[in-house]
Amino acid sequence: MQTIVVESKERGAEKVVELVREEMEAGRLNVLGLATGSTMEPVYEKMVASDLDFTNVTAFNLDEYIGIPATHKNSYAYYMDQLLFNKKPFKETHIENGMAEDLDAECVRYETLLKENPLDMQFLGIGENGHIAFNEPGTSPESVTHVVELTQSTIDVNSQYFTADETMPVTALTMGISSIMQAKKLIVAAFGEKKRAALEKLFAGEVTTEWPVTYLLDHPDVTVITDLKL
Ligand code: F6R
Repeated sequence: MQTIVVESKERGAEKVVELVREEMEAGRLNVLGLATGSTMEPVYEKMVASDLDFTNVTAFNLDEYIGIPATHKNSYAYYMDQLLFNKKPFKETHIENGMAEDLDAECVRYETLLKENPLDMQFLGIGENGHIAFNEPGTSPESVTHVVELTQSTIDVNSQYFTADETMPVTALTMGISSIMQAKKLIVAAFGEKKRAALEKLFAGEVTTEWPVTYLLDHPDVTVITDLKL
């Protein structure tokens, strides 16, 4: 695991884009796994502002809420369109369909697509409780794309994006730990004190299901970008 300590979230976002550029210029980036959340906002801002061309790159997102359509301002599909895809065209973009009638079939469909398009690089943020994508504490390392019930911690953190008259979904579809671990390269971004506990667990070097982020210790190519000095 490689760790890059930066002085700010902005600088961290620049670093992520530098790593993307390196892979693209080396001809190693055909399939890019993306994440949502506040950590990724400056990353997408900098990708949009860059001269990078993603028209030959296929994108896959980690996760999506169940029960809100892609047109809802809090869906991750909407987030991606607004922040990145509407401004930088990709060859193809994929995200789980949280409105699918048969959610189990949707998980199989997504996991099959991932197998057909192996991820060259995957962006990851970290939840305060150590989740990666929506793989909450207790998730099996063998997990593939699946339906999850969000933990109270995740609901508390993410409910800030929903207004009082909106009900925040409490279930989601997410790539599993095993789906994420298939990516050749993992780029983990974690900024701010709220991420300290999760990063401390990662740097402690012991894999535990209680802190899913620690599964990354078993991956051969992980780069952590953070503004925390640990
Ligand atoms: C989002 C995702 C989540 C976030 C994590 C951190 O697609 O998979 O795991 O990366 O919850 O969220 P922020 O960046 O908002 O702190």
